[in-house]
Amino acid sequence: MKVLLASSEVYPYSKTGGLADMVGALAKYLAHAGCQVVLVTPLYSSIRARHPELQRLDWKLELPLDSHLVSGRVCVLQPAHRLTVYFIEHSGFFERPGLYQEHGRDYPDNAERFVFFSKAVVNLARYLPWRAQVVHLHDWQTALVPLLIQDQKQRDKWLRPPRTCLTIHNLAYQGQFPASTFGLTNLPWSYFSMEGVEFHGGVNCLKAGIGHAQGLTTVSPRYAREITTPELGFGLDGILRQQDHLLTGILNGVDYTEWNTEHNPNLHNAYHKDDLSGKTAEKLALQKEFGLPVNAQIPLFGNIGRLVHQKGIDILLGALEEMVAADLQFVSLGAGLPEFESALLDLARRYPHKVAVRTGYDHGLPHRIEAASDFFLMPSHFEPCGLNQMYSLRYGTVPIVRATGGLDDSVIDVRENAALANGIKFDVYSSSALAHAMRKALALFQHRDLLQHYRNNGMNQDFSWERTAREYMKVYENILTRD
Ligand code: ADP
Ligand code: GLC
Repeated sequence: MKVLLASSEVYPYSKTGGLADMVGALAKYLAHAGCQVVLVTPLYSSIRARHPELQRLDWKLELPLDSHLVSGRVCVLQPAHRLTVYFIEHSGFFERPGLYQEHGRDYPDNAERFVFFSKAVVNLARYLPWRAQVVHLHDWQTALVPLLIQDQKQRDKWLRPPRTCLTIHNLAYQGQFPASTFGLTNLPWSYFSMEGVEFHGGVNCLKAGIGHAQGLTTVSPRYAREITTPELGFGLDGILRQQDHLLTGILNGVDYTEWNTEHNPNLHNAYHKDDLSGKTAEKLALQKEFGLPVNAQIPLFGNIGRLVHQKGIDILLGALEEMVAADLQFVSLGAGLPEFESALLDLARRYPHKVAVRTGYDHGLPHRIEAASDFFLMPSHFEPCGLNQMYSLRYGTVPIVRATGGLDDSVIDVRENAALANGIKFDVYSSSALAHAMRKALALFQHRDLLQHYRNNGMNQDFSWERTAREYMKVYENILTRD
């Protein structure tokens, strides 16, 4: 099968969150499973410096954006057998310090940037002699592609265009812009309608994708159900209910070649489920690195993530205020909203022996925090899949999660199954419910045998990408056989 994946971020080239991990791994494991995979992604700053083997093709993009023709180039890499990556080069759009924003503010020309990128994806899908059978889009940044393809089929005699599949990684980000940006699409005005891209008088890229892709997926089964409800549908639950017959929830996998404790260049100490002494050594090393009292007997809670409302940072701050008097430590790494960054830093200033906070983005530190922590906190308000709880399980770190989306699908609480319990879940979105879950964790920490039972269960859990890639291949086959 020939599949073209398009995404605004792909690990190891660019990353702000789990989208990059997911698409990078999907591409790799589809290729392992025998698919021919092409990946299309923007050429952001520093990619060229990190990949000197990158080649610029003799392919000049000249794409209309409203009344202008905008030029770009195409560069290529072949990182693995059956996997080719095309980078869309446009220095004005993509060579910037951030991918989508700086200092918590979106770039004002994100509509131009990602309409251009989407048109480049369509151009490659149409003119690469290789010819994709399925074009698989990810999130709003590429969600206009199905409509752009449909338009070229109807108005520009594209005879047998590929089928399209859209994965929703996060419904909270829809690519909404004022109506005046519709001209950038160069689509006929008839598409600026309820059935097309129009949403409350403006443009909504994700809505257009949901309405026009031939297959829809999201990144966990529970989230697939949640997004069809008004509570978590972010205004698109109506159209999602209409398209329910096309929607499948597939839990993301974990790329265990990156996220493991035995062969990991990001860790100082290797460890294995039968011998966790390396994990203790990681804990002592991190306590030292973060300037906390070095003591294996103090339970250590960790958190890593984008500091945005989705992640429950408000209830995390409340629960920490309540719990900080207990004998515990908390470490976190995150970047995002300035008010959350400063609230966390303030907590660390007030409790320097208990709380240590790093802001910004770091490649190796997440592995060390996952390995060092006894418990990992994910009190998300909603969570399409979430990867860190699955990384935690493999690192022998007990996740404490709110029962939502993929967190609910991947973590097992003792109330659900005592034999298989691997984490602690709570339901109500409140600081006190999270603090209650943290108290359960402190009790668990005192029961070494029970803690070991949880850790074993977690480390035995297998979220390998082979299974996830097979499920996507089934979706592609369905799309190809559907009328
Ligand atoms: P989301 O995609 O919503 O951000 P996920 O749990 O799916 O959440 O994935 C988050 C990914 O991003 C993980 O690989 C996590 O380690 C990484 N990550 C988040 N924030 C940072 C940061 N500040 N520095 C390094 N990695 C980060
Ligand atoms: C999104 C979601 C996250 C998910 C990731 C990868 O960023 O917020 O829950 O794990 O995409 O699919």
